[in-house]
Amino acid sequence: MPNAAIQSIAMSVAERVMTNEEFEKIVETSDEWIQTRTGIKERRVAEPGQSSSYFGAIAAADALKRAGVNPEDVDMVICATVTGDHLFPGTACLIQERIGAKNAGAFDVGAACAGFIYAAEVASSMIRNGTIRNAVVVGVDTLTHFVDWSDRSTCVLFGDGGGAAYMEATEEDRGIVATVMLSDGSGAKHIKIEKGGSLYPPSRPQSEGKCSTLYMAGKEVFRFAVRAMADSCHKVLEKAGLTADDVTLFCPHQANLRIITAAAEHLGLPMERVFVNVQKYGNMGAGSIPVALYEAEAEGALKKGDLVMTVGFGAGLVWGANLIRW
Ligand SMILES: CC(C)(COP(=O)(O)OP(=O)(O)OC[C@H]1O[C@@H](n2cnc3c(N)ncnc32)[C@H](O)[C@@H]1OP(=O)(O)O)[C@@H](O)C(=O)NCCC(=O)NCCS
Repeated sequence: MPNAAIQSIAMSVAERVMTNEEFEKIVETSDEWIQTRTGIKERRVAEPGQSSSYFGAIAAADALKRAGVNPEDVDMVICATVTGDHLFPGTACLIQERIGAKNAGAFDVGAACAGFIYAAEVASSMIRNGTIRNAVVVGVDTLTHFVDWSDRSTCVLFGDGGGAAYMEATEEDRGIVATVMLSDGSGAKHIKIEKGGSLYPPSRPQSEGKCSTLYMAGKEVFRFAVRAMADSCHKVLEKAGLTADDVTLFCPHQANLRIITAAAEHLGLPMERVFVNVQKYGNMGAGSIPVALYEAEAEGALKKGDLVMTVGFGAGLVWGANLIRW
C-alpha cells in the first residue's frame, strides 16, 4: 500500500484586519479582556460576498501551483467546512470549478473545527487503498458571516480563511501515520446555528424565534476542548506506538491560547514545540489547522520528515487528531 503524503500546503485569509480595539467601539469589551481570556489580538474579517469557496479556491489553486500539478490531473477535491456557500451544492464543487479540476470528484466534510483532521484522513485512506491517486484537501470557514455582532461572548472569537493541502500517493515514508476521530452528539446543543437547516428552515412557521447566528455555551465548550485535546492526542500517540517526545511539532486547532497551553502542559510539551497563531487570526474553524501548518512550514518550524501532531475539536461535538510524517 502506498502512503499519502502532503506534497504542498497553501493558505488564504481575509485581507481586512479587525483589532480588539475596534470591538471596544461595538460591544462592551476591552483588548485586555480578549487577550487574557483568549490570546487573540486581531482577526481577519471577510467582506460580504467573500464566501468559504472564495478563500478555499485561492488556497487550493496555490497548493497545486506549489506542487507543480495541473488542475486537470486532480482526482478529488474535499472541502472541510461548516460555513459552505450554500446548503447545497457542496462548496467542494464550487472550488473544483474555480480551480479547473475538470476530472475530479468533489464533496464536503462537515466536522466543524475538526474538519481538516477528518478530511485529511478520508483523502489519505482513499489514496492508500487506490480509489484515487491524489486529492486537494481544503479546510476553510467564514464564521464572521454568522456571528451576532452584538454578542460580546462570541463575536470577538472568530476569523475568516483557510488552507489547502495537495496529497498524493508516494512510496516515501511520509503522510498520515495515525488518526483518531471521535464524537459526542449529546453535546450538539453547546455550539450551533439553529436555523437554516431542515429542522428549522428559513421562512417556515416552526422556525419563528429560532436563531440564525452562532450560539456557543463558552464555559461548557472550554471544558470539553481541554478534555478533547488531551483525549485525542493520547489516543493517536497510543495508536501509533509513539509518545509526545517523538512529536517534532504540535499544531493544534487555534481557538484559544488557554486551551492550547493547557493541552501542551498536559502532554508535557514545551511551548517551543507548539505552533500558535491564534493571536493573528482568531478561530477560523476548519481553516485554522491548514493555515497553522502552512505558517509553521514557512517559518521553518516544520520540515520534511518531521512528525507533526494536529488536533481539532468543535461543534458536534467532534474531535480528533492526525499524526503526520511531513
Ligand atoms: C468564550 C470564552 C473566551 C469566555 O471566557 P471565560 O473565562 O469562560 O468567561 P466567562 O464565560 O466565564 O465570562 C466571564 C464574564 O466575562 C464576560 N464576557 C464575555 N465575553 C466578554 C468580552 N468579549 N469582553 C468582556 N467581557 C466578556 C461574561 O459576560 C461574563 O460576565 P459575568 O460574569 O458578568 O456574567 C471561553 O469560555 C472560551 O474560550 N470557550 C471556548 C470557546 C471555543 O474554543 N470555541 C470554539 C470551539 S471550536
